[in-house]
Amino acid sequence: MARLLSLKKLLLVYFVMSTGALLWLILNFGLFCHTSSKEEETLLTKTRELRHWEERLRRRERDLQKKPQQDASLPTIYAIMPTHTRHVQKAELTRLAQTFLHVKNFHWILVEDSHSRTDLVTSFLASCGIKYTHLNIKTPEDYQLKETDPNWLKPRGVEQRNVGLQWLREHLDEDSDKGVVYFADDDNTYSLQLFDEMRQTRGVSVWPVGLVGGMRFERPVVEHGRVVRWYTYWRPERPFAIDMAGFAVNLQLILENPQAKFELRVRRGYLESSLLEHLITMDELEPLADNCTKVLVWHTRTEKPKMKQENQLIQLGRPSDPRIEV
Ligand SMILES: *[C@@H]1O[C@H](CO)[C@@H](O)[C@H](O)[C@H]1NC(C)=O
Repeated sequence: MARLLSLKKLLLVYFVMSTGALLWLILNFGLFCHTSSKEEETLLTKTRELRHWEERLRRRERDLQKKPQQDASLPTIYAIMPTHTRHVQKAELTRLAQTFLHVKNFHWILVEDSHSRTDLVTSFLASCGIKYTHLNIKTPEDYQLKETDPNWLKPRGVEQRNVGLQWLREHLDEDSDKGVVYFADDDNTYSLQLFDEMRQTRGVSVWPVGLVGGMRFERPVVEHGRVVRWYTYWRPERPFAIDMAGFAVNLQLILENPQAKFELRVRRGYLESSLLEHLITMDELEPLADNCTKVLVWHTRTEKPKMKQENQLIQLGRPSDPRIEV
């Protein structure tokens, strides 16, 4: 905040001085009227330069305003998010960045499913205005989904989330870093209220998730302030029959339990349980979103765009410009 203020002051001083200088030049020009055409030209060039710098400053000021506010008294939200290259990737990241920009003390841990960090994600993150860490790990061959596989066949984003957890354990301190860990997905939709709710998580907090499991919503069922069972169609007897988007974990709990991670070899629907079983029991869960009666996150899932016409043009020898990033 203090930095922002002094920058603003600096901007103000700059504007006053540059305007003053310009006025002085014009006044002199008017008073003596001896200016040759060459001097006139210099004056014009200088004015143009001033305009250019003014525009740059204005742009810089806009960028600064775009930055989310920080508040040292609030715990940080560490959002671990797997992502993979596909046509809609940049659109999804843009949509999410523009949500996360509104969240205070937010640290985006984006983990690409790839052998190296891609140029698209690298330059996207550099200009998104959010605090971030950029990681990557390729999913082992046997665990990759094939084009024709239904998306529930194999657990997705497992290695990527584990690499995110590993980063937290290697870079954060149990005593001095206060935070909450959330597993985000690049095709979900998040209400800003969700982040306000999860920020005070002491152990593990839970809430409903919309448009998931072939239902309008799934949710933990709460009685007398405690989670007693799961409202879901698929295997409600699972230890934690909850979607990845439906819980957050206090950072301390993650750091204190270094063995806790997601298991790659689990039966369908047991991925979330494979982590949570190391951390907590059902009766200790903290129900949020009005005792789990409000939906604040949705599994929206963007439709995969078809490239039929694009492919036809390629066959005709008229591919689109590869320099244009989409
Ligand atoms: C949740 O339920 C408990 C117990 O029934 C109640 O005391 C509490 O006020 C409820 N909280 C909210 C936010 O509705």
